[in-house]
Amino acid sequence: MSERSFVSDIDQLEAELIARIDGCANTRELEELRVAALGRRGRLTELAKAIGRLPPHQRPAAGAAINALKERIEERLRRRRQELEERELAERLAREWIDVTLPPRERPQGRIHPVSQVTEEVIAIFAEMGFTVAEGPDVEDDWHNFTALNIPPDHPARQMQDTFYLEAEQDGLPLLLRTHTSPVQIRTMQAGRPPFRIVAPGRVYRRDYDMTHTPMFHQVEGLLIDRRTHMGHLKGCLVDFVRAFFERDDIPVRFRPSFFPFTEPSAEMDVGCRRGEGELVVGAGNDWLEILGCGMVHPRVLEGVGLSPDIWQGFAFGMGIDRLAMLKYGIPDLRTFFEGDLRWSGHYGFSPLDFPTSWSGLSR
Ligand code: DAH
Repeated sequence: MSERSFVSDIDQLEAELIARIDGCANTRELEELRVAALGRRGRLTELAKAIGRLPPHQRPAAGAAINALKERIEERLRRRRQELEERELAERLAREWIDVTLPPRERPQGRIHPVSQVTEEVIAIFAEMGFTVAEGPDVEDDWHNFTALNIPPDHPARQMQDTFYLEAEQDGLPLLLRTHTSPVQIRTMQAGRPPFRIVAPGRVYRRDYDMTHTPMFHQVEGLLIDRRTHMGHLKGCLVDFVRAFFERDDIPVRFRPSFFPFTEPSAEMDVGCRRGEGELVVGAGNDWLEILGCGMVHPRVLEGVGLSPDIWQGFAFGMGIDRLAMLKYGIPDLRTFFEGDLRWSGHYGFSPLDFPTSWSGLSR
C-alpha cells in the first residue's frame, strides 16, 4: 500500500462517515454507526491495522493521520448525538405534555347513609340531655342478651326462628348475635357506677326478611339510672326526643301500656300520623304509629348487676334506627337500605358536609 492511497482512503472514509453521521435519524442509529466506525471491528480500526503494511518511515505520519481522523469523527458523533438528543426530548415533550388547564376528572362524592345520619341525629338530641354513647359487642352470650334482662329460658325471643345462634359456646350455652341493644344496658351497669345516662346505637340481628324486616338492622338503646327516678322523667325525656327528632313541637304522642321482661311498668310510645294512599306522614292526623318501647328498669335487672332497687331506679328505652329513618325521610322499603345501590345512596343519602360528628366527640 502506498502513502498516497492510504491518505485517499482516510479522506474517503472521513467523507463517508460524516455523511452517515449526518444521516442518522436517531440516537440508536448513531450508536450503531459509532460501533461500526470506532468499535473493535470498526472501519477506522481496520484502517489502523493497515498501517503495519506501510513502509516503516511512513508509519508515524499515517498513525497520526488516523488518530486525527478518529478525533474528528468522535467530535462529529458527539455533536450529532447532542442534536439528536435535543430533538428526541423535544418530540417527547410534545407527545407527553399534560394540559394542566383541563378540568379534573370528577371523583364521585360519597353520601352519608340514612342509618348513619339518623344515628347521629338521635345521639345529638340525647347528648343535649346529658347522655353519652356506649357500645357493646355484636356477638353476645346468653346471659347478657337474655338472662340478665329477666328474659326467662322459655321466652319466645330465644327460639331458633328469631335468634341467630353461633356454634361456639360459653358456659354450656351457644353464643349468639344480639337480638337487641338491651345487653349494652347490662354491660354499662356492670362496668361502671351509677348514676348512668347512656345511649347505645348498634347493629342487631333477627331471622326475619320482608318490606320492614331485615336480618340485620339497627337500634338505639337508652338507659338512665339515678336516685328517685320516675315515670315522669321517662315521659318528659322521650316526648322531648320525638319532638326534636321529627322537628315538630305539636306532634301528638301517647304512651300505651305494654310488656317487656326487663321493665316494669312497660310502655310503647306512639306518635300521631296520617295514612293516605301508600303514604304515611308523621305528625297530626287520625292515626297512631308505634315508634319505641320503654319502661322503668325492672328491679330484678338492677339486682342482677348488683344495684339496690331501693336506692337506684331508672328508665330504659329502645327504638329502631332504620324505622326512624324510614319515617322521617319517607323511605318505603327497609331491604333497600342494605343493597348498596349507589343510585339509592345518591337519592336518600346525605351530604358529608352536613354530617354532625357528635358520636366520636362524646364517646368515652
Ligand atoms: N329490646 C326491645 C326490643 O328489641 C326494645 C326495648 C323495649 C328496649 C323496652 C328497652 C325497653 O330498653 O325499655 O324489642
